[in-house]
Amino acid sequence: MEKMWAGRFEKALDKKADDFNSSIRFDCRMYAQDIRGSMAHAMMLEKQGIVAKEDVEKILDGLESILNDLNNGALTFDENAEDIHMFVEAELTKRIGDAGKKLHTARSRNDQVALDIRLYLRDKAAEIVSLVKRLVQVITDKAEENAKVIAPGYTHLQRAQPIAFGHHLLAYSMMLLRDMGRIEDAVKRMNYSPLGSCALAGTTYPTDRAFVAEKLGFDGVTQNSIDGVSDRDFCLELMSAFAILMTHLSRFSEEIILWSSWEFKFIELDDSYTTGSSIMPQKKNPDMAELVRGKTGRVYGNLMALLTTLKGLPLAYNKDMQEDKEAIFDSIDTVVMCLEVFTPMIATMKVNADVTYKAAQKGFINATDLADYLTKKGMPFRAAYKIVGTIVAECIKKDCVLDTYPLDEYKKYSDLFENDLYEEISLETCVGKRNSAGGASPKSVLAQVKWVREELEKQ
Ligand code: ARG
Repeated sequence: MEKMWAGRFEKALDKKADDFNSSIRFDCRMYAQDIRGSMAHAMMLEKQGIVAKEDVEKILDGLESILNDLNNGALTFDENAEDIHMFVEAELTKRIGDAGKKLHTARSRNDQVALDIRLYLRDKAAEIVSLVKRLVQVITDKAEENAKVIAPGYTHLQRAQPIAFGHHLLAYSMMLLRDMGRIEDAVKRMNYSPLGSCALAGTTYPTDRAFVAEKLGFDGVTQNSIDGVSDRDFCLELMSAFAILMTHLSRFSEEIILWSSWEFKFIELDDSYTTGSSIMPQKKNPDMAELVRGKTGRVYGNLMALLTTLKGLPLAYNKDMQEDKEAIFDSIDTVVMCLEVFTPMIATMKVNADVTYKAAQKGFINATDLADYLTKKGMPFRAAYKIVGTIVAECIKKDCVLDTYPLDEYKKYSDLFENDLYEEISLETCVGKRNSAGGASPKSVLAQVKWVREELEKQ
């Protein structure tokens, strides 16, 4: 097939080089955006008197028919095409003749591709935000269900203080809400049309870039034509936001994996989100969570790959930039896939409230509250801390717990200890009274649930 740029060449491109150069196998997914962009461009060309009305009508009809045929499978991508832009233009000329050759007036593939990716990412970012939103809803519902379930809270993976289990879950709702915000922020900065930057220097045609931008739902146009075709920081920003989102999903996955082990048994995953072993009949493996944790690596890798690709590029367009697409497409596909499995996995998981309660009974996680008990009776916190530490050590030696350690034993350390200490250090009190703003009590959990739902409403 003769290249559109064949004029100045005497020989055809080597076959391997041609394949190496071609991006159609991955940029074909932007066909709808490419066509949408071309339609807006063609309308602008007519409005500005650059291309005649009858030609533009043919162009628009032709593009429409290509879009329909691609949508319904009547037309398939030519794998020998150089990229999606060349493919659509060649197909258009095949269908409507010479008028098709006028479409590329006052445009370059450099601004065209910069436009197409933005349009594509805008659609995908919206899809991902709504998937994250759904996940936040599911986690928040789970948190509400588990507002009164008592569990140990951890630091250093050591039992630390008792909490409502829903409080732990809600930490993820908060992270994911910020992830939604990060993606939306990136889209806000990205939402300026580069079309009309042309190859790198703008054009001498009397174009109306604002018209195209408005037709395509942008907030305006990019202000520098070199930046318009060279900038891929919008890809980096989105990929960073996806990487951070995956960090959150991966941490949650790690906890799901731990919690569903025999050592914890805090939760039970639904059969439909677990797998068996080919040899060990008893196994029920949290593969979905492991895969989400594992796939986080490739989303980080894609971000590093594009950062590295861009770091040494002189302005303006360089073919290296074609590498942006596979990286960001893979990040998008991975994030979407992970969310589509992760959300129902969380929705169907069961929390073993009796197990989390028993776990909270061990590990002296009410020791802080015992120290606070003395402090509230007038002892300086550091002194109280030391006494309680000594009592804990004593209890470990004697294999007993603070909750049933006899009062006369307590009295040996301080006269401030009275019978009311038992009530004060019961798990119910420790959790129930943690009502500081954002604290771990059931009441606070319900307040947080309400807050998260209000935030989601604003979306
Ligand atoms: N396939 C190219 C890409 O993805 C399109 C832009 C090509 N521009 C050029 N001057 N060769 O970057």
